[in-house]
Amino acid sequence: DWDATEMLEEAKDLVRGIEKSKVLCAFSGGVDSLVAAQLSHEVIGDNLYCFFVDHGLLRPQDYNHIEILKEKTNLNIEVIDVKDEFMANLKGKSDPEDKRKAIGKTFIDVFEKKVKEYQDSHDINFEYLLQGTLYPDVIESISPHEEDGKSVTIKSHHNVGGLPERMNLKLLEPLRYLFKDEVRKMGEELGLEHGWVHRHPFPGPGIGIRVLGELTETRIAQVQQSDQILFEELHANNLYQSTWQALTVLLPVKTVGVKGDGRAYEEVICLRMVNSSDGMTATWTDMPHAFLSRVSSRITNEVKGITRVVYDITSKPPGTIEWE
Ligand code: XMP
Repeated sequence: DWDATEMLEEAKDLVRGIEKSKVLCAFSGGVDSLVAAQLSHEVIGDNLYCFFVDHGLLRPQDYNHIEILKEKTNLNIEVIDVKDEFMANLKGKSDPEDKRKAIGKTFIDVFEKKVKEYQDSHDINFEYLLQGTLYPDVIESISPHEEDGKSVTIKSHHNVGGLPERMNLKLLEPLRYLFKDEVRKMGEELGLEHGWVHRHPFPGPGIGIRVLGELTETRIAQVQQSDQILFEELHANNLYQSTWQALTVLLPVKTVGVKGDGRAYEEVICLRMVNSSDGMTATWTDMPHAFLSRVSSRITNEVKGITRVVYDITSKPPGTIEWE
């Protein structure tokens, strides 16, 4: 594909000329960071170091994905386990913005600390931070949404903002002139597997914003299990690409039900699947009823503490895609 080859060369040009420098990447394994890392690796090789932060708010599929990428790509991927630090800093917090801020701040703090330790023990010095920023993110950060002259923030999205200044790193953003579909095309041009470059989006704060209210290990595990079931069924029924994003949310509500021969008073899992092109607006996906039924009966049977499953039929606006 001539277009993709040309685009890829132009993106690589943004990385050329720094082949001797050490480059650090906050690597999530998502489409953007993966494509950014792979194309940079073709230019600077093993001077690229990908750090994957395991904050414990990930789904089983994310852990599998990172293992597969470690095995099947030539990227140098370092997994940093900081689950305990995140749990400690989130304790007692139930307000969505408090949780996002705690997650964002903890991310930057632990990332900086772990990178410093790594530099000292390997006797290297990072000069650049590689980020998979896309054109829409660049535009959004230049002109935030304005209302009555004041800028309005609906959700504080920018997960690693401030990191380059704090760590004294120069920014490397080879995808900054590209849209998502172009990045996917480039990913395929780079030889990355179809499923890797067509993954659904997943938010930086992860399950942290899908357990409504306070996070506990049990509640995180409930969402991990319900999500695992949802995705097993999406793949088994060949429906993964029929929706732009799919997720499960644990509601902080108890409802009455019957389980076995007794009364149950347990919690609710909400399924959310949406169609969108960029996440700014969305409509709910009309999934086959047989599929929804199967997911519902599996979740209520297999996930402890869940007696009820509901399907979110709200578009954005007014409902955002995530519940927090
Ligand atoms: P909302 O909920 O704002 O989500 O309609 C739009 C898209 O953005 C993702 N999202 C986030 N991504 N950090 C992220 O990196 C965040 O704090 C965050 N909040 C929402 C969401 O998953 C959807 O794809």
